[in-house]
Amino acid sequence: MNNLEIKHNKLTAKEFIYLWESVWSDAPTKEQIELALTHSIYVVSVYDRGKVAAMARMIGDMGLCYYIKDVVVHPDYQKQGIGRGLINELLDFIKSNGISGTQIFVELCAMPDKIPFYEKFGFSANEAQRLRIMLPVE
Ligand SMILES: CC(C)(COP(=O)(O)OP(=O)(O)OC[C@H]1O[C@@H](n2cnc3c(N)ncnc32)[C@H](O)[C@@H]1OP(=O)(O)O)[C@@H](O)C(=O)NCCC(=O)NCCS
Repeated sequence: MNNLEIKHNKLTAKEFIYLWESVWSDAPTKEQIELALTHSIYVVSVYDRGKVAAMARMIGDMGLCYYIKDVVVHPDYQKQGIGRGLINELLDFIKSNGISGTQIFVELCAMPDKIPFYEKFGFSANEAQRLRIMLPVE
């Protein structure tokens, strides 16, 4: 990530929406994102001359498990090693903050075409199925 600036826990909701909408449609609301970022355990963002180019964040309990979320490299910056840099930053945080001598469960959800990217770090699928619900909040 030469010439790029890396920040920790500084990503704004506006930057999150900008990156989200560069690769997917219909970002969550600003209020939801602000709450989510506040409660994320570690957020990494990458900047090129002040403009956000990539992000990734984790939720977790530091002792037993983490979940990696919202890994996005803006299309203009993909295939330059930034995604690898993001995941390595997250994994370094886990290794630096875990109890020495233990193992920590790190999960994420990936579409089939992204699985080879994560396999490079040692992630693999098991037989467990992902169960989910989009729960409405009244
Ligand atoms: C997936 C994503 C994060 C990868 O980021 P990137 O910066 O382009 O990836 P890198 O340049 O760091 O690639 C690192 C390695 O993974 C490989 N790689 C990257 N994307 C890949 C893919 N979709 N399939 C297979 N390999 C991939 C690269 O070729 C490179 O391999 P190498 O180590 O042999 O050189 C990026 O494409 C992206 O943001 N996509 C849109 C959002 C998304 O789908 N995020 C993932 C949500 S699960």
